[in-house]
Amino acid sequence: MIKSTIKGSGSYLPSKVLTNDDIAKMVDTSDQWIFERTGITQRHIASNDQLTSDLAYEASIKAIESAGIDANELDLILLATSTPDQVFPSTAVKVQHMIGAKESAAFDLHAVCSGFVYGLTTANAFIKTGEYKKILVIGAETYSRIIDWSDRSTCILFGDGAGAFVLEGIHSSDDISGTGILESSIKSDGKYSDKLYCNGGPSSNSKGGQYIQMNGREVYKHAVEKQTSIVNSVLLSAGLTVDKIDWLVPHQANLRILEATAKRLDIPSEKIIITVEKHANTSSASIPIAMDSAINSGKIKRGDIVMLVSFGSGFTWGATVLRY
Ligand code: UT7
Repeated sequence: MIKSTIKGSGSYLPSKVLTNDDIAKMVDTSDQWIFERTGITQRHIASNDQLTSDLAYEASIKAIESAGIDANELDLILLATSTPDQVFPSTAVKVQHMIGAKESAAFDLHAVCSGFVYGLTTANAFIKTGEYKKILVIGAETYSRIIDWSDRSTCILFGDGAGAFVLEGIHSSDDISGTGILESSIKSDGKYSDKLYCNGGPSSNSKGGQYIQMNGREVYKHAVEKQTSIVNSVLLSAGLTVDKIDWLVPHQANLRILEATAKRLDIPSEKIIITVEKHANTSSASIPIAMDSAINSGKIKRGDIVMLVSFGSGFTWGATVLRY
């Protein structure tokens, strides 16, 4: 059967770093408070002339290079973002032009922090039908532009960055021994749309979105519950048990959420990929950044079973289990 394999990956963090101490000079907080509640020590911030497409471009060229393909071989570019450059055209078409991918289709996908798993799930469906063979899936965000830097409850949590995978459809064994995506599932429940949102937007106030609003406690509770349940359901559909997972790559929202999720799943801490301390929550970019860094450091190796899981505004959540 045809499976979607990760042929290459790449990630990018802007060079400017904002530490907890820097934020403590802007609002009434401290490095200790932020670190104890979130595990975050710093975040990267895009320069004034860097847009989401620029971050996406940097991650994409690395992913294309690591896949060893030419950009013209791409059939589709799927960019997950909630901080697009403009209302339209899509940021994906801008990236398409920047990387010189003349033959592909390109569109944006909006599922906030779950965007990358939504993107993988969508790309996987296209690949399995045989419609497309090579797809670039990108998560890229400039949350620094939608943060109210005077709100200490949200400004400590987020950062800018981008990550990308090149997926390729290959003939692979139809059981779990075959390389590629084994199972992928996405969910949403708009009943909770007022728990984490960005106010404003073209249809509400004729402008772009303004600032993040969040009920942190509600987000925390649902993130742990929903990520746990979707990992269990994806494992069941794939015919796997939790002990078969070599690596858990959760959405890097905050350390307490990802540790609580792993504990409920009974996944030991040494199997969790954690990068949140260095870049905070980069929304749809966090999973590919974490995965790419674990591949580059030699933790995740070819043949490993990897579980990606995400949760975000909407609420939206999803999980993808794959053999790398
Ligand atoms: O992709 C999902 C993105 N969202 C998240 O990951 C957020 C999930 N939620 C959380 O991680 C936690 O709810 C937070 C880290 C955001 C907050 O922790 P908490 O233990 O839920 O704190 P809280 O909101 O209940 O606030 C406790 C106290 C409050 O003071 P009072 O009312 O008790 O006097 C807040 O005003 O902490 C205060 N506080 C702060 N103090 C110092 C809130 N933010 C800060 C801050 N520094 N940055």
